[in-house]
Amino acid sequence: MCGIVGYAGTSSRSAEHGALDVLIEGLRRLEYRGYDSAGVAVVADGAIHSRKKAGKLVNLENQIAEAPLPDSLTGIGHTRWATHGGPSDQNAHPHLADGGKLAMIHNGIIENFAEIKATLVAEGVEFLSDTDTEVAAALLGKMYSSEAEGDLTRAMQLAVNKLEGAFTLLAVHQDHPGVVVAARRNSPLVLGLGEGENFLGSDVSGFIDFTRRAVELGQDQIVTITPESHSIIGFDGEPAEGREFSVDWDAASAEKGGFPSFMEKEIHDQPAAVADTLLGRSDAEGKLTLDELRIDPEKLAKITKIVVLACGTSAYAGSVAKYAIESWCRIPVEVELSHEFRYREPIVDKNTLIVSISQSGETMDTLMAVRYAKEQGAKTLSICNTNGSTIPRESDAVLYTHAGPEIAVASTKAFLAQITATYLLGLYLAQLRGNLFSGQIKDILADLGKIPSKIQDILDRDNEIKDLARSMADASSVLFLGRHVGYPVAMEGALKLKEIAYIHAEGFAAGELKHGPIALIDDGQPVFVVVPSPRGRDSLHSKVVSNIQEVRARGANTLVIAEEGDVDVREYAEFVFYVPETPTLLMPLLATVPLQIFACELATAKGYDVDQPRNLAKSVTVE
Ligand code: F6R
Repeated sequence: MCGIVGYAGTSSRSAEHGALDVLIEGLRRLEYRGYDSAGVAVVADGAIHSRKKAGKLVNLENQIAEAPLPDSLTGIGHTRWATHGGPSDQNAHPHLADGGKLAMIHNGIIENFAEIKATLVAEGVEFLSDTDTEVAAALLGKMYSSEAEGDLTRAMQLAVNKLEGAFTLLAVHQDHPGVVVAARRNSPLVLGLGEGENFLGSDVSGFIDFTRRAVELGQDQIVTITPESHSIIGFDGEPAEGREFSVDWDAASAEKGGFPSFMEKEIHDQPAAVADTLLGRSDAEGKLTLDELRIDPEKLAKITKIVVLACGTSAYAGSVAKYAIESWCRIPVEVELSHEFRYREPIVDKNTLIVSISQSGETMDTLMAVRYAKEQGAKTLSICNTNGSTIPRESDAVLYTHAGPEIAVASTKAFLAQITATYLLGLYLAQLRGNLFSGQIKDILADLGKIPSKIQDILDRDNEIKDLARSMADASSVLFLGRHVGYPVAMEGALKLKEIAYIHAEGFAAGELKHGPIALIDDGQPVFVVVPSPRGRDSLHSKVVSNIQEVRARGANTLVIAEEGDVDVREYAEFVFYVPETPTLLMPLLATVPLQIFACELATAKGYDVDQPRNLAKSVTVE
């Protein structure tokens, strides 16, 4: 996710550091968020001076070394994680508007940018990039020079009231040296208070080297900083207040949002990862508009088979997708590990849609499998978290997940975002092919929209599962059972535990128990069981309850993930963790979370580095 820094200082402080030093230092602290380009803009000598460059911060620093910026006390800085428009110099922030007098940086996604852009283009505005940010900058410029009559804060207020989506925006204008105006909706922004200088950051890491006094800004607020002051208003123009706090984390923990590890932070990022992946992909009537897909809808409507290609956790996201897409679209879906697909002469043709799923977009096995399928004439669609990476670049179409950079090696938030993206794809295909009525699609989207707050509910009760995990630190083997969509959840629960706690763990389809795995059950064997909703598909719930009884009768210690209100499971379980009610097909977005927390806490209790497990790499770029 993009990193944002803003600074307004006085000359008394500039003896110590000018705007550029503060911005570069802040961006360096925010590097952990992941980025593909970086840029700064400063106000000096009555003008805006900007430099921006694709690639790492050092590229920007080299550019500034070649073309130095004038000394300045006001500026904004940005590291970009591409969403609209690939990673390039042109798409990097800041974006200029109002004839170069104004500069803007942005984190988030502006959902209605296309219609605003169309209006501005009709009025003669020219755009240099593919970004939604440049549209917001042009809108701010227009407001500044028309209705706001040169008041930058008022212009920001007028502009944000025309924007939909999630955004943090920071702007400077050459007519206002010493002023940075910022606004936030559904996207992070923190204010840092200094002596004769004030700061803005995506999080406190952006200014932690300069001040420990911070103010958390509320939803839909605008803040204007000068070296000596800050003022906050709501989007309605009414005065507002933020919550002041003092930062007692060191710089390393600040990057992790105060969590002890990136993995734990990323588990807690999941409500936002799902919400951001849903953002801007359907209209108020529930019609899906997946503009990025770039495959002719008529051709998509004609596909006869989907093959999902992925590895590891991403393949489990594909297994969840199989249940949903087959149910909604009545198209057969095969899920294949990329490395197996490639070497078995698979049968694909022009009516096959290959859906590759990859967090990194660089997994060599998946890349090779996609290339092979393309050679056979199949259409290829990539579900990916990393804009501009190789797999989406080489695919016919892409649907980006917006989980933000995932730093911990073990995937968590990318998994939930991948599942969310496959649901969007399934609903889109159902819409194209007429398999579901628009009202049904709207209802499912409404259920999906409720998922982020339900995940938050689970996270708020994480102590229940953490206590269990700590009590099991000495376990040598844990089994995981599930049926239907609970089966890939069980597999993913087992994989997480293997990866970071180095404990033998296996996931099984609960129905497979009697065909072999039940022989593993011994006195005290811990078995997690993912129980489907009792309100769901006939007999699925009772079948799984029978499975719990079977393993319990053989001495298993049964640990159950069940839906709220499912009182029947209580008598068969040593431990129950309840997840909020949701339709069965969406259940993996909730049931996975306690299993992630369990693995993370158990590995932590064993003293392992959960972010960098042994023998594993974040991106597997060899076959
Ligand atoms: C598990 C994990 C791996 C990846 C797999 C594919 O926690 O992270 O199993 O899911 O290596 O990686 P991507 O999604 O980058 O293709």
